[in-house]
Amino acid sequence: MKFKSSFGKWLRSEGGCGRFEARRGDALEPERSQTDQSLAALFIPFAIGSIRLENRVVMSPMGRAHARDGVPDPAYRTYFARRVRGGTRLVLSGAAAIGHPLADYDGTGPVFHGRAALGGWRDIAEAVHEAGGWFCPQLWHTGMARRAEAFADPAALGPSGLSVADIAAGRDPGGSAMTRRDMDAVRDAFARAADDARTIGCDAIEIHAGHGFLLDQFLWAATNRRQDEYGGSPANRARFPAEVVAACRAAVGPDFPILMRISQFKIDAYDARIANDADELGALLRPLTEAGVSLFDCSQRMIDRPAFGDDGPSLAGWVRRLTGCPVMALGSLGVARPFREDEAADPRLAVPTVSLAPVEAAARMIAAGECDLVAAGRALLADPDWTAKLRDGATAAILPPTIDSMIALC
Ligand SMILES: Cc1cc2nc3c(=O)[nH]c(=O)nc-3n(C[C@H](O)[C@H](O)[C@H](O)COP(=O)(O)O)c2cc1C
Repeated sequence: MKFKSSFGKWLRSEGGCGRFEARRGDALEPERSQTDQSLAALFIPFAIGSIRLENRVVMSPMGRAHARDGVPDPAYRTYFARRVRGGTRLVLSGAAAIGHPLADYDGTGPVFHGRAALGGWRDIAEAVHEAGGWFCPQLWHTGMARRAEAFADPAALGPSGLSVADIAAGRDPGGSAMTRRDMDAVRDAFARAADDARTIGCDAIEIHAGHGFLLDQFLWAATNRRQDEYGGSPANRARFPAEVVAACRAAVGPDFPILMRISQFKIDAYDARIANDADELGALLRPLTEAGVSLFDCSQRMIDRPAFGDDGPSLAGWVRRLTGCPVMALGSLGVARPFREDEAADPRLAVPTVSLAPVEAAARMIAAGECDLVAAGRALLADPDWTAKLRDGATAAILPPTIDSMIALC
C-alpha cells in the first residue's frame, strides 16, 4: 500500500538555506504499519543533507550529566542506540560545552573538547550508526547562566555581563561584558567543536542559541545592552551568533547540516521574547540564515502555542515562513504538561502523564507544512520505543514518565 500525503514532492524553500531545503526522503519507503491516520504525517520520510530519516520524530537534546571529568559515560551508547532501535533515527546529545574556559554550566555534564571526551563521543556516534541512526551533538556556551559556585574560577561573561537573575533582581551586571577578544575566542571554540564533530563521525551539529544561554543572551535585548554593532537592532543582536554560525560553516564545509536551537522563552523567564513580532523575528533570523544555518530547532514549551499573541503560527511556523529553511518544532510531545512547570518546588511535579493530543497537533503541523521535524524530550526518556509504538498503533503500551526515567541513563 502506497502512503498518500498532502505534500508535493519537494517542499518549498525560499531562504538562504541553499542545499538544505526541506525535502522528502523519496529514496526511502514510507514506514507502513498500523499507524493511526491522525498521526500518519509523522511517518513521511524526510532528508536533510545526507541524513535520511524514515519519519519525522527526533530526540530532543537533553543534558543528563553522567560524565567523569567531562568524558561521557559509556552508558550513553546503549541509551542512544535504544532510542534509535525504538524508531527515533536522529538523536541529539544534551548540551555539551565547547572548549572555552567559561563555557560549561556546572561541571557535571560531558563536554565537547579534549581527546578523552571526544573519544567518548566518537564511540557514541558509532553506536548510534550501528543501530541505524544519525547523531548530532548540541554545542553550547552558557555565558551568564554559568553556575559560578560550581567552579574554582567564578567568572562568567556575556554580551553585557547581565544574567537573567540580575535582571529579575534589578541589580547591576554580575559578570563581564565580552570584549572582541572574548568573542573571537568563543567563536573559534565553537568552530573547533564543529570541526571535531565532523572529524569523529557525527552527522550534524546543533548550535544552542536558545533557553537563555550565551548566544541567546546576544539575541535577547534584555541581556544585550551593548552600544556597539553587536547590540541594539535585531540585526546587530544576531551579529555575533551569525559569526559563530559562519565560523562553524567554514569549519565543516557546505554540505554538513548545522542546526540551530532558538527559543522565545528563557529558563527562569518563560514570558521572555527575543522578538515581539514577525518583523523583528525575521530581522533576527536573516543574518543567521545567511551565515549557514541548515535547520532551525524552534523550542517552545507547548508545540502548537502561537508565537505572538493568542493565535497564528507557532515559532517554528513563523521561522519556516520567514526563512524558508527547514524547521523542527517541539514542546510537550506526548506529555500533558510543559517542561519545568513547578518542578523547582517539587521534583515529582516534573513527571507528567501521557497525552497524545500534542502528538496529533504535531502531525497536523507537519501535514500543513508548518514544520518539517518534531522533537520529543521527556516522552523518549520514559519510553525508548515511543516512536515505534506510535508507528505501530500501540499507543496504549506507551510507558508513562517516572522520576527514575528523568534521572537514570537507560
Ligand atoms: C532532563 C532534561 C534535560 C534537558 N537538557 C537540555 C539541553 O541540554 N539542551 C536543550 O536545548 N534543552 C534541554 N532540555 C529541554 C528539552 O530539549 C525540551 O526542549 C523540553 O524537555 C521540552 O520537550 P518535551 O516537552 O518533549 O520534554 C532538557 C529537558 C530535560 C527533560
